[in-house]
Amino acid sequence: MKHTLFLALLAFVLTGCTDEETTAPTTAVTVTDAQLYQLTMSTHKAAFYKNSTDTIPGNSGAAHAGKVLVWYNAKAKEQLDANGKVKSSAAFADSSLIVKEIFNTSGTKLYYAIMFKLSSASNKGAGDWVWSELNADGSAFISAADKGTICGPCHSTGIAYTRMNDAHP
Ligand code: HEC
Repeated sequence: MKHTLFLALLAFVLTGCTDEETTAPTTAVTVTDAQLYQLTMSTHKAAFYKNSTDTIPGNSGAAHAGKVLVWYNAKAKEQLDANGKVKSSAAFADSSLIVKEIFNTSGTKLYYAIMFKLSSASNKGAGDWVWSELNADGSAFISAADKGTICGPCHSTGIAYTRMNDAHP
């Protein structure tokens, strides 16, 4: 069931293509915050940064302090090395999912910061990632509809727009 949402998205794209052969599909997929929440809740955590499930202090330069835990789905894991760090040559394929769980210093989960790669998304932002930050209950804190306008510039300095390697070497 893990990839149900992504398959649903794919099915949507494919159906759009087969509908009428004469007209090219013009409808791109819009990935909603609710879909990203579902995906985050249902996805198998295939890998954790540096292979560790411990929370670590967030970088003070990031949008949120507190503690963070970063995990990757199976597709995103393909771009990690044996130490669980992002390969210097990383190029994330579509359907890659990276989630940063953000906790306060007492360990209460506050947010999910989400990067979901989908080059066909109408609301993709920098690096063809869909960017979203959700409150712990799934409501939008910074919506995917914003196309990562505040996320992209800060992430542009990292490998394929990821910041863990430089912030937590
Ligand atoms: C001011 C800079 C800054 C902004 C703005 C920012 N980030 Fe980040 N982000 C970081 C840093 C630094 C890290 C490394 C982890 C840490 O220390 O928090 C990070 C890590 C992440 C990660 C873990 C994957 C990785 O290696 O990058 C995700 C997912 C993420 N951010 C999503 C977002 C989203 C979504 C937004 C916008 C809503 C956003 N970030 C805005 C600096 C930023």
